[in-house]
Formats: sequence, structure tokens, C-alpha cells
Amino acid sequence: MKVDGRSYRTIWLKPGHEHVVQVINQLKLPHSFEVTDLSSVHDVCAAIRGMLVRGAGLIGACAAYGMYLAALEAPDADFSTFLLQAGETLKATRPTASNLAWAVDRMLLEVTGAQSPTHARMLAKEAAMAIANEDVAHCERIGSHGLGLISQIAQRKPDQVVNILTHCNAGWLAFVDIGSATAPIYAAHAAGIPVHVWVDETRPRNQGAALTAWELGQQGIPHTLIADNAGGHLMQHGLVDMVLTGADRVSRNGDAANKIGTYLKALAAHDNHIPMVVALPSSTFDFALRNGVANTPIEERDADEVRFVTGQNAHGTLETVRICPPATTARNWGFDVTPARLITHLICERGICAASEAGILALFPEHAGNG
Ligand code: MRU
Repeated sequence: MKVDGRSYRTIWLKPGHEHVVQVINQLKLPHSFEVTDLSSVHDVCAAIRGMLVRGAGLIGACAAYGMYLAALEAPDADFSTFLLQAGETLKATRPTASNLAWAVDRMLLEVTGAQSPTHARMLAKEAAMAIANEDVAHCERIGSHGLGLISQIAQRKPDQVVNILTHCNAGWLAFVDIGSATAPIYAAHAAGIPVHVWVDETRPRNQGAALTAWELGQQGIPHTLIADNAGGHLMQHGLVDMVLTGADRVSRNGDAANKIGTYLKALAAHDNHIPMVVALPSSTFDFALRNGVANTPIEERDADEVRFVTGQNAHGTLETVRICPPATTARNWGFDVTPARLITHLICERGICAASEAGILALFPEHAGNG
């Protein structure tokens, strides 16, 4: 997508230095646009854990490049053990998004059968690039399928704006390019459908305010930032036509884990008869998970993310301030799970389906036996 008119992906190999991975540093947005070098699997783990890169698709692609860097670092004599250990360390960085473990396992599979460590390093590079390219292609297809849903709403209200509410950032910053939830929005905008996005601020890390508002602004999509708790009120007053979010892990029965607060939007959407749509590439499905509400691993992060906020002061300097009494304790769950019964549609690269085992397996029949 474009940043100040120039095209970027969120991750790439440094031109002329292909043992270095470059990423957009999301900790700096929206205040400054900076690119950071990752030169080792250790750097990649730190970047994922510290959320310098974040979002399900991107942490998957970043883990894939991390495995490539691990292959470059691995001593010939101990190649496989080194790679397996690097994979375990990467998987432990963040627990909720399926894409991370999926990418590590796929990288390990891609290098099995290599004739030598040198051959494995070459295969690892190709596989990491393929995973990144597939991520882009899948988001593009999600955009085409989702465009159909937005067009249907636009046809029902000619000459009026289609209002879409989104939570967190399932945009191009959360993937390699384009995004999952944003893909249909970008496609509708390109098709000339007037769209407007309500952007939930997404406490405590404010991915909506810092990232979604920034990326929609860069692409020229009309949007308005709202407090997390405003959505229900807007829905009651006819100001939301569709809730469209991403997902970090979707179970076989269609339960969708996404950023904390998504469940409350789904409840409000259900009460107001508004479609609740979840967009995801297939790498976000956990086909082995039968009950997402009960068994999705939910990341709990540092309580200080709730107790403090960081932003730019009037002098343009970043400041972190405490928003509660000094002794107040806090808890900080990163994700919640929206039960399938509250989800109107899933949009994947293969099409649109019901959030149910039957719906999902109709699109992914090769997983019918894997439950
Ligand atoms: O904690 P994050 O920022 O990595 O969370 C991921 C998200 O941005 C959301 O949950 C998103 O909607 C799904 S990721 C495509």
C-alpha cells in the first residue's frame, strides 16, 4: 500500500543484503514512519514479542523470515536441532494468532528433504518469500469476495455512504499488504462505492487510533475515530451497516478470536440485526480446534499497557503517562472469542462461508478428516 504516495509492503529482504529482513516499525506509528533491520532470529523474536511487528498475517510472515535467518545462522553440524529450537522459540513469542505456528511448521516442512544445509538455506529463503507473496494474494482475494457484500449494501441504499465499523487493525499493517478486514473496503473504494469507516480506538494499545486511522488516511478512505464503547450507540441509531473485523484464530466450528472487545461489538451487532463479518486468510484457521470459545489460548500482556498511555505532547515529543492511581492493579487480556452464532459471514481467499464447521469445510474440504 502507499505511504506518502510510495508503495510498501510491511516486510521484505533488504536489497543487496539478503541476510537482513526489513520491517515497518509499528511502535513508531503514527508519529513517524521508520524501517527497522532484523538480522537474526533473536531480533525477529524480539520484534514479534515487543509488537514492533504485529497482526496475525504479518507475525506469520515475520516468523517465516525468522526461520530463514535461523537457517543462515545454524551451524552445519547441528542444523536441524538449531532450526527446531528456533521454531519453538518463535512459536512462544505470542500465543493467540494461528499464523505464527502455521508459518513455522510450514518452513520446517519446506526444508525437510534438503540435500545439505546450503540447499536448506536456499529452500528456506524461497519458502519465506512464498509465504509473504501468498499472504498478499489471499488478502487480494478476500477483497474481491468482500466487495460483493459491500456492493449489496450499497445497492440497498443508493447514493448513500456505506458505514463500516472495524476494531483493532486488520489492515495492511497486520499483513504483508492490503489487509484482511480492510481489503473489501479498499476494493469498494476503488470500485467507486462511497464507504466510511468507524475506527474503534482499541484500548489498551490503540491499534485502531494509531494504525488503522493512519493507514486509512494514507489511502484516502473516509474514516472517523471513535471511543471503543461508542459502537453500540451508533448501531442503535442506524449509523453502522456492517461490522467487519479480522481474526487471529478461527476454530473449526467458526468461533473467531480477535482483539479484546470484538465480542462486545458482535453482541451489539446481533442485537441490532447488523451483519458481523470476519475476514481471514486460511492460515488463520485452526482446523484442530473444535471449540474456540473454550480453548483458544488467550495472550495476557503486561498490566502497564492498561495503566499507562503513550502519545505525542504539544511539543511533538512522545510521552507516557499513568491514567490510574499509582497502586491500582490491572489485568490485560489481548483477545476475546466471538462465538460462531454471532458471526454472519466469514470471508476467506476461497470465498464467503457461514461460520460453522459445515460452511468452513465446504471451502476447505481437504481438512474434513483433520478434526
Ligand atoms: O495484538 P495484535 O495487534 O497483534 O492483534 C492483532 C490484531 O490486530 C487484531 O486482532 C486483528 O483484528 C486481527 S490480525 C489480522
